[in-house]
Amino acid sequence: MTRGKFIAFEGGEGAGKSTQARMLAAALTERGIACVVTREPGGTPGAEAIRELLLGTAGDGWHPRAEALLFAAARSDHVARLILPALDTGKWVICDRFVDSSRAYQGGAGGLGDADVMALHQVGSQGLLADLTLLIEVSPETAAARARARDGGKADRIGGRDGAYHARVASAFAALAQAERERFARIDGDADAALVHQAVLAAVMPR
Ligand code: TYD
Repeated sequence: MTRGKFIAFEGGEGAGKSTQARMLAAALTERGIACVVTREPGGTPGAEAIRELLLGTAGDGWHPRAEALLFAAARSDHVARLILPALDTGKWVICDRFVDSSRAYQGGAGGLGDADVMALHQVGSQGLLADLTLLIEVSPETAAARARARDGGKADRIGGRDGAYHARVASAFAALAQAERERFARIDGDADAALVHQAVLAAVMPR
C-alpha cells in the first residue's frame, strides 16, 4: 500500500485555512483520493480535551512553557492515533495547523525559541513533518475583518492576544517558509476563496 500524503495548512487567525482545507479535500475526493480532514489543536478525543484547556477563555491562561507542552501533548495523541494510522492505510491527511503553528506562536511570538519547540515535537511526535505545508498569508486588515465576522468579538484565549503578538506570529511563519522552501508553498490568501483554492491546487498537484 502506498503511504498517503500529509498536507498541512498554516497561517494566522482569519487566513481562511479551514475553508481551504475543506475545498482541497473535496477536490482530492473528486480525483478518487481518499482523505481525512483534521485540525489542531484537536483531532482526537484526548487532543480535543486539551484544546478546551488551551483555548477556554476563563482565567489568565498558561505560562508559555506549559502552553507549548500542552500543544505538543495534543499533537502527540493526534499523530499517534489519527495521522499516522491514516497515512499508513494510504489516505491523505489534510491538517488545519500543525507543528509550524507551535513554532510561530509559542516559539516565535511567545518567545520560547525554535529549538525548544522542536525538542518537544521530537519527544511527542518523533519530529514528524508534513510532506507539504501551505502557508496562507493575508494582510492584517483581511485577517481582522474575517476573524470579526467569524468570532463576533469573542476570540479564543490565543486569538484574542494583541496585534503585536499576531504580527510576530506572521513574521515567524514567513521566516520559516523562507528558510525551508522545499517544505512550504506560500499562498496569497487575500483573494476570494475560489482563487485561493486554485493557487492551492497549483501547489499540491505537481507534488
Ligand atoms: P484554530 O482553531 O486553528 O484558530 P483559527 O481558526 O482562528 O486559526 O487554532 C486555535 C488557536 O490556537 C489559534 O489562535 C492558534 C493557536 N495555536 C497555537 O498557538 N499553537 C499551536 O501549535 C496550534 C496548533 C494552534
